[in-house]
Amino acid sequence: MRTPVMDALNELVEEDSVSFHFPGHKGRKTNIDWERLMPMIDTTETIGMDNLLEPTGIIKESQVEASKVYNSKYTIYGVNGSTGSNYIALSAITNKGDKILVQRNCHKSVYNSMILNDLEPVYIYPNYNSFYESTTGVDPENVRKALEEHSDIKAVILTSPNYYGICSDIKTIAQIVHEKNIILVVDEAHGPHLPFSDQYPESAIVSGADIVIHSTHKTLPSLTQTSLIHVCSDRVDINKLRDRYQLYTTTSPSYLFTLSNEMSVAFMNEEGRKRLDDNYDYLLDVRKRLEDIDGVTVLEKDERDETIFDLDKSRILIDMRGYKGAELKSILYKDFNIRMEMNDYYSALAMSTVMNTKEDFEALISAMESISSREVRKPIRDLTIDMPRPKVVMRPSEAYFGKKKLVDLKDSIGRIVATPIIPYPPGVPLLATGEEVTKEVYEFMLFLLENDINLVNLSEEKKKIVVVE
Ligand SMILES: Cc1ncc(COP(=O)(O)O)c(C=O)c1O
Repeated sequence: MRTPVMDALNELVEEDSVSFHFPGHKGRKTNIDWERLMPMIDTTETIGMDNLLEPTGIIKESQVEASKVYNSKYTIYGVNGSTGSNYIALSAITNKGDKILVQRNCHKSVYNSMILNDLEPVYIYPNYNSFYESTTGVDPENVRKALEEHSDIKAVILTSPNYYGICSDIKTIAQIVHEKNIILVVDEAHGPHLPFSDQYPESAIVSGADIVIHSTHKTLPSLTQTSLIHVCSDRVDINKLRDRYQLYTTTSPSYLFTLSNEMSVAFMNEEGRKRLDDNYDYLLDVRKRLEDIDGVTVLEKDERDETIFDLDKSRILIDMRGYKGAELKSILYKDFNIRMEMNDYYSALAMSTVMNTKEDFEALISAMESISSREVRKPIRDLTIDMPRPKVVMRPSEAYFGKKKLVDLKDSIGRIVATPIIPYPPGVPLLATGEEVTKEVYEFMLFLLENDINLVNLSEEKKKIVVVE
């Protein structure tokens, strides 16, 4: 048998690129000696060990330790990313058929949860900043308005920070949500490092959210698939949460993931805290030096934007005048061996963690200086990439489980999508299940395809779309 995965990984090791992408460990040595543990690390609930699904021993103790570090009431280790943790959280706080308030640019796992739990969404759109051409945070007043208009909403789910590190005012939103005596879940997949330094935006754990979800693997030195579910108030029924944890979790959870969750929290509680604080001024300096390069704009919370409540400075969104995000990302890789996390139409995103070294940041600055000195290009501002607002016609579960058919993309205007269309990354549906393909969205899809943006679920060479029959 050929072994293409092994071959590619061998090449990746040889390549030794600078990582400004997930996972947060960046392939560097942490506080786990993997080699020493190797003979026994892939163990199970054998004598002396514990069962992640019903922990009574070492895993229970470990989760209590993690909850002390995070100041939560209860913390559970997840082994299927924030995807699995969102499934668990949403099904624990709702009953079949409930209406919930959902930030329209939530991750696709939130949409899948709605399908699985037959939930009815009321969508709330984030703000848009036209200087950076980027969606920003959710306005608390819009949350208030939605809750007043729909008095039967049972829970609220928001994402903060977003992929770019932009945070919403969760403290004010939590107060508004709690006035209605309902539950707020914050998908803080991008923020497990936030509680470890006062210089970073406040975590939703201290801002009053009832449940906070973390992708440990995104910003801590932890393995892909690791995550945390933090329960932060008495409004959450822990027994139901544990029950749903069992529903969505493999009966053979990986000890590698369990250990990695534990040790990444332990790392942050000691060395990580120190690194976050010690490196903060340097990080600000990196951002300024990038911004000072001719043609470069770095997304900042400043007078150019009034909708960014707070910003995680470890995310560096770089716009290079005259370059589309895809070209910039590709040049950084091909010419400078730097792998960025993602690009959107205009910008490329560097995702840094405490595992990045000064050499990594210096390499990024010097690459940007070099690109800037190659040629002077004219600015490209040919498109507003604010999210279109398709019409919600059906509940996601109704569209998903009903009769479907495949139609040509060109015949899809006016149809209701049965499978979401998702630009990836960041994994936010452009068209969510149950929404109508309006002319505006149809044209936007064509535009994205022309610009080589990957649209998940557009099948057969991107010409067909699954719609409700
Ligand atoms: C906001 C948000 N939530 C949840 C997820 C899913 O996280 P995971 O990859 O840990 O399953 C992502 C993934 O990128 C995300 O961006």
